[in-house]
Amino acid sequence: MDEMWNQIGYSIAKNIEKIVMPLFGTRKAGENVGTNVSGDVTKYVDRLAEDVALEALKPLPVNIVSEEIGTLDRGSDYTVVIDPIDGSYNFSVGVPVFAFSFGVFKGRKPVYGSVYEFTTGRYFEGIPGKGAYLNGERIRVKPLPPERAALSLYTRGRGTELAGMVKRIRVLGAIAVELSYLAMGSLQAVVDVRNYVRPTDIAAACIIAKEAGALVVDDGGRELRLELNAEAGNNIVAASSEELLEMILGVMNGG
Ligand code: IPD
Ligand code: CA
Repeated sequence: MDEMWNQIGYSIAKNIEKIVMPLFGTRKAGENVGTNVSGDVTKYVDRLAEDVALEALKPLPVNIVSEEIGTLDRGSDYTVVIDPIDGSYNFSVGVPVFAFSFGVFKGRKPVYGSVYEFTTGRYFEGIPGKGAYLNGERIRVKPLPPERAALSLYTRGRGTELAGMVKRIRVLGAIAVELSYLAMGSLQAVVDVRNYVRPTDIAAACIIAKEAGALVVDDGGRELRLELNAEAGNNIVAASSEELLEMILGVMNGG
Protein backbone atom coordinates (compact mmCIF):
# COMPACT_ATOMS: atom_id res chain seq x y z
CA MET A 1 0.00 0.00 0.00
CA ASP A 2 2.81 2.47 0.96
CA GLU A 3 4.49 1.50 -2.30
CA MET A 4 1.36 2.33 -4.28
CA TRP A 5 0.91 5.76 -2.64
CA ASN A 6 4.62 6.41 -3.14
CA GLN A 7 4.27 5.75 -6.86
CA ILE A 8 1.15 7.88 -7.22
CA GLY A 9 2.55 10.81 -5.19
CA TYR A 10 5.94 10.76 -6.86
CA SER A 11 4.59 10.50 -10.39
CA ILE A 12 2.18 13.42 -9.87
CA ALA A 13 5.08 15.48 -8.46
CA LYS A 14 7.22 14.74 -11.52
CA ASN A 15 4.35 15.56 -13.90
CA ILE A 16 3.78 18.91 -12.18
CA GLU A 17 7.51 19.60 -12.27
CA LYS A 18 7.64 19.09 -16.04
CA ILE A 19 4.76 21.45 -16.69
CA VAL A 20 5.50 24.26 -14.23
CA MET A 21 9.30 24.56 -14.00
CA PRO A 22 9.66 26.46 -17.28
CA LEU A 23 7.58 29.22 -15.63
CA PHE A 24 9.78 29.55 -12.52
CA GLY A 25 10.33 33.21 -11.65
CA THR A 26 8.20 34.55 -14.49
CA ARG A 27 5.51 37.21 -14.38
CA LYS A 28 3.08 34.78 -16.04
CA ALA A 29 3.39 32.34 -13.10
CA GLY A 30 2.14 34.95 -10.64
CA GLU A 31 -0.79 36.23 -12.70
CA ASN A 32 -4.01 36.32 -10.75
CA VAL A 33 -6.54 33.97 -12.39
CA GLY A 34 -9.24 33.85 -9.72
CA THR A 35 -9.96 33.18 -6.06
CA ASN A 36 -9.74 29.81 -4.32
CA VAL A 37 -12.17 28.19 -1.87
CA SER A 38 -10.50 29.84 1.11
CA GLY A 39 -10.68 33.31 -0.46
CA ASP A 40 -6.99 33.54 -1.44
CA VAL A 41 -5.79 34.56 -4.87
CA THR A 42 -5.24 31.71 -7.34
CA LYS A 43 -2.11 32.31 -9.39
CA TYR A 44 -1.64 30.97 -12.90
CA VAL A 45 0.92 28.45 -11.63
CA ASP A 46 -1.47 27.22 -8.90
CA ARG A 47 -4.14 26.49 -11.53
CA LEU A 48 -1.68 24.84 -13.89
CA ALA A 49 -0.23 22.57 -11.19
CA GLU A 50 -3.66 21.66 -9.84
CA ASP A 51 -4.93 20.69 -13.30
CA VAL A 52 -2.02 18.27 -13.67
CA ALA A 53 -2.66 16.74 -10.24
CA LEU A 54 -6.40 16.38 -10.81
CA GLU A 55 -5.93 14.69 -14.14
CA ALA A 56 -3.96 11.96 -12.35
CA LEU A 57 -6.18 11.72 -9.28
CA LYS A 58 -9.66 11.88 -10.78
CA PRO A 59 -9.58 8.35 -12.27
CA LEU A 60 -8.80 6.95 -8.78
CA PRO A 61 -11.61 6.00 -6.37
CA VAL A 62 -10.67 8.63 -3.75
CA ASN A 63 -12.03 11.87 -2.36
CA ILE A 64 -9.83 14.80 -3.30
CA VAL A 65 -9.07 17.92 -1.30
CA SER A 66 -6.96 20.46 -3.13
CA GLU A 67 -6.07 24.07 -2.46
CA GLU A 68 -7.87 25.78 -5.30
CA ILE A 69 -10.94 23.59 -5.96
CA GLY A 70 -11.59 22.55 -2.34
CA THR A 71 -13.28 19.18 -1.72
CA LEU A 72 -14.45 16.59 -4.25
CA ASP A 73 -16.36 14.12 -2.09
CA ARG A 74 -16.84 10.93 -4.04
CA GLY A 75 -18.00 8.75 -1.16
CA SER A 76 -14.65 6.97 -0.79
CA ASP A 77 -13.02 5.78 2.47
CA TYR A 78 -9.81 7.39 1.21
CA THR A 79 -9.14 11.11 0.99
CA VAL A 80 -6.11 12.57 -0.77
CA VAL A 81 -5.21 16.05 0.47
CA ILE A 82 -2.87 17.94 -1.83
CA ASP A 83 -1.28 21.30 -2.30
CA PRO A 84 -0.12 21.27 -5.94
CA ILE A 85 2.40 24.03 -5.15
CA ASP A 86 3.15 25.05 -1.60
CA GLY A 87 5.10 28.28 -1.81
CA SER A 88 3.63 29.58 -5.03
CA TYR A 89 4.58 33.17 -4.19
CA ASN A 90 8.21 32.00 -3.88
CA PHE A 91 7.83 30.23 -7.21
CA SER A 92 6.49 33.28 -9.01
CA VAL A 93 9.18 35.64 -7.69
CA GLY A 94 12.08 33.24 -8.27
CA VAL A 95 12.78 32.05 -4.71
CA PRO A 96 13.62 28.35 -5.07
CA VAL A 97 11.67 27.05 -2.06
CA PHE A 98 8.39 25.39 -3.05
CA ALA A 99 7.00 21.87 -3.15
CA PHE A 100 4.21 19.46 -4.02
CA SER A 101 2.41 18.17 -0.99
CA PHE A 102 0.47 14.86 -0.95
CA GLY A 103 -1.34 13.38 2.06
CA VAL A 104 -3.52 10.27 2.15
CA PHE A 105 -6.08 9.49 4.84
CA LYS A 106 -8.43 6.57 5.49
CA GLY A 107 -11.32 8.28 7.21
CA ARG A 108 -9.40 10.74 9.42
CA LYS A 109 -6.49 8.36 9.91
CA PRO A 110 -3.21 9.29 8.16
CA VAL A 111 -1.98 6.60 5.77
CA TYR A 112 0.85 8.27 3.83
CA GLY A 113 2.39 11.73 3.41
CA SER A 114 4.94 13.07 0.96
CA VAL A 115 6.50 16.39 0.01
CA TYR A 116 8.50 16.80 -3.20
CA GLU A 117 10.88 19.75 -3.27
CA PHE A 118 11.12 20.59 -6.97
CA THR A 119 14.43 22.45 -7.03
CA THR A 120 16.46 19.81 -5.17
CA GLY A 121 14.58 16.66 -6.19
CA ARG A 122 14.20 15.74 -2.52
CA TYR A 123 11.26 13.43 -1.85
CA PHE A 124 10.23 13.37 1.81
CA GLU A 125 7.86 10.66 3.02
CA GLY A 126 6.08 9.82 6.23
CA ILE A 127 4.56 6.39 6.70
CA PRO A 128 2.55 6.07 9.91
CA GLY A 129 4.21 3.58 12.25
CA LYS A 130 7.14 3.07 9.85
CA GLY A 131 9.04 6.35 10.01
CA ALA A 132 10.06 9.30 7.85
CA TYR A 133 12.32 9.12 4.82
CA LEU A 134 14.27 11.40 2.50
CA ASN A 135 14.84 9.79 -0.90
CA GLY A 136 14.42 6.42 0.77
CA GLU A 137 16.80 7.04 3.71
CA ARG A 138 15.44 7.25 7.24
CA ILE A 139 15.39 10.77 8.77
CA ARG A 140 14.91 12.02 12.35
CA VAL A 141 14.47 15.40 13.99
CA LYS A 142 17.58 16.92 15.54
CA PRO A 143 16.79 18.36 18.98
CA LEU A 144 19.06 21.20 20.13
CA PRO A 145 18.92 23.38 23.22
CA PRO A 146 16.77 26.51 22.56
CA GLU A 147 19.81 28.80 22.39
CA ARG A 148 21.15 26.74 19.47
CA ALA A 149 17.82 26.11 17.74
CA ALA A 150 16.60 27.37 14.34
CA LEU A 151 12.94 28.30 14.33
CA SER A 152 10.47 29.11 11.57
CA LEU A 153 7.94 31.57 12.98
CA TYR A 154 4.86 32.85 11.14
CA THR A 155 3.14 35.45 13.28
CA ARG A 156 1.35 38.77 13.14
CA GLY A 157 3.00 39.83 16.38
CA ARG A 158 2.23 37.08 18.88
CA GLY A 159 5.33 35.43 20.36
CA THR A 160 7.94 37.61 18.66
CA GLU A 161 10.03 37.48 21.87
CA LEU A 162 11.06 34.02 20.66
CA ALA A 163 13.42 35.73 18.21
CA GLY A 164 15.63 36.65 21.17
CA MET A 165 15.51 33.16 22.70
CA VAL A 166 16.72 30.99 19.82
CA LYS A 167 19.82 31.06 17.65
CA ARG A 168 18.18 31.53 14.24
CA ILE A 169 14.83 32.57 12.77
CA ARG A 170 14.12 31.17 9.30
CA VAL A 171 10.86 31.96 7.52
CA LEU A 172 11.12 30.30 4.13
CA GLY A 173 7.63 30.85 2.69
CA ALA A 174 6.61 27.22 2.13
CA ILE A 175 5.49 25.59 5.34
CA ALA A 176 5.36 22.05 3.91
CA VAL A 177 9.04 22.40 3.07
CA GLU A 178 9.81 23.85 6.51
CA LEU A 179 8.06 20.94 8.26
CA SER A 180 10.10 18.58 6.09
CA TYR A 181 13.29 20.44 7.12
CA LEU A 182 12.22 19.98 10.75
CA ALA A 183 11.91 16.26 9.99
CA MET A 184 15.44 16.08 8.60
CA GLY A 185 16.96 18.10 11.43
CA SER A 186 17.66 21.40 9.62
CA LEU A 187 15.10 23.32 11.69
CA GLN A 188 14.23 22.62 15.33
CA ALA A 189 10.69 24.04 15.27
CA VAL A 190 8.01 25.38 12.93
CA VAL A 191 5.36 27.71 14.35
CA ASP A 192 2.42 29.42 12.63
CA VAL A 193 0.09 31.34 14.92
CA ARG A 194 -1.84 33.46 12.41
CA ASN A 195 -4.97 31.26 12.50
CA TYR A 196 -4.41 30.98 8.82
CA VAL A 197 -2.50 27.92 7.65
CA ARG A 198 -4.80 25.46 5.82
CA PRO A 199 -4.97 21.67 6.08
CA THR A 200 -3.90 21.50 2.42
CA ASP A 201 -0.63 23.29 3.33
CA ILE A 202 0.32 21.04 6.25
CA ALA A 203 -1.61 17.74 6.23
CA ALA A 204 1.08 15.74 4.40
CA ALA A 205 4.08 17.39 6.04
CA CYS A 206 2.66 16.85 9.54
CA ILE A 207 2.73 13.10 8.87
CA ILE A 208 6.40 13.37 7.85
CA ALA A 209 7.35 15.54 10.83
CA LYS A 210 5.59 13.28 13.33
CA GLU A 211 7.13 10.15 11.89
CA ALA A 212 10.53 11.82 12.25
CA GLY A 213 9.85 12.34 15.95
CA ALA A 214 8.46 15.90 16.01
CA LEU A 215 5.82 16.92 18.52
CA VAL A 216 2.97 18.57 16.61
CA VAL A 217 0.29 20.46 18.52
CA ASP A 218 -1.94 23.53 18.29
CA ASP A 219 -1.12 26.79 20.06
CA GLY A 220 -2.84 25.51 23.24
CA GLY A 221 -0.60 22.42 23.34
CA ARG A 222 -3.40 20.08 22.25
CA GLU A 223 -2.87 17.45 19.58
CA LEU A 224 -3.37 19.15 16.20
CA ARG A 225 -6.52 17.70 14.67
CA LEU A 226 -6.88 18.82 11.08
CA GLU A 227 -10.20 18.92 9.27
CA LEU A 228 -9.64 17.41 5.84
CA ASN A 229 -10.58 20.52 3.88
CA ALA A 230 -8.94 23.43 2.10
CA GLU A 231 -10.51 26.19 4.15
CA ALA A 232 -9.97 25.82 7.90
CA GLY A 233 -7.46 28.25 9.44
CA ASN A 234 -5.11 26.58 11.94
CA ASN A 235 -2.36 27.37 14.41
CA ILE A 236 0.50 24.91 14.57
CA VAL A 237 3.48 24.42 16.85
CA ALA A 238 5.82 21.63 15.73
CA ALA A 239 9.03 21.05 17.68
CA SER A 240 11.89 18.60 17.85
CA SER A 241 11.89 18.35 21.66
CA GLU A 242 9.65 18.68 24.67
CA GLU A 243 11.91 21.43 26.04
CA LEU A 244 11.58 23.63 22.97
CA LEU A 245 7.88 22.93 22.68
CA GLU A 246 7.26 23.96 26.28
CA MET A 247 9.30 27.13 25.80
CA ILE A 248 7.34 28.12 22.68
CA LEU A 249 3.95 27.36 24.23
CA GLY A 250 4.94 29.27 27.37
CA VAL A 251 5.80 32.37 25.34
CA MET A 252 2.69 32.06 23.17
CA ASN A 253 0.41 31.75 26.15
CA GLY A 254 2.07 34.37 28.32
CA GLY A 255 3.72 31.79 30.65
C1 IPD B 1 1.61 29.19 1.73
C2 IPD B 1 2.94 28.75 2.30
C3 IPD B 1 3.40 29.70 3.37
C4 IPD B 1 2.38 29.84 4.46
C5 IPD B 1 1.02 30.22 3.89
C6 IPD B 1 0.59 29.27 2.79
P1 IPD B 1 0.85 28.59 -0.74
O1 IPD B 1 1.18 28.24 0.79
O2 IPD B 1 2.86 27.48 2.86
O3 IPD B 1 4.56 29.22 3.98
O4 IPD B 1 2.79 30.85 5.31
O5 IPD B 1 0.11 30.15 4.94
O6 IPD B 1 -0.64 29.72 2.26
O7 IPD B 1 -0.28 29.57 -0.72
O8 IPD B 1 2.07 29.17 -1.31
O9 IPD B 1 0.49 27.28 -1.27
CA1 CA C 1 -0.49 26.29 -2.88
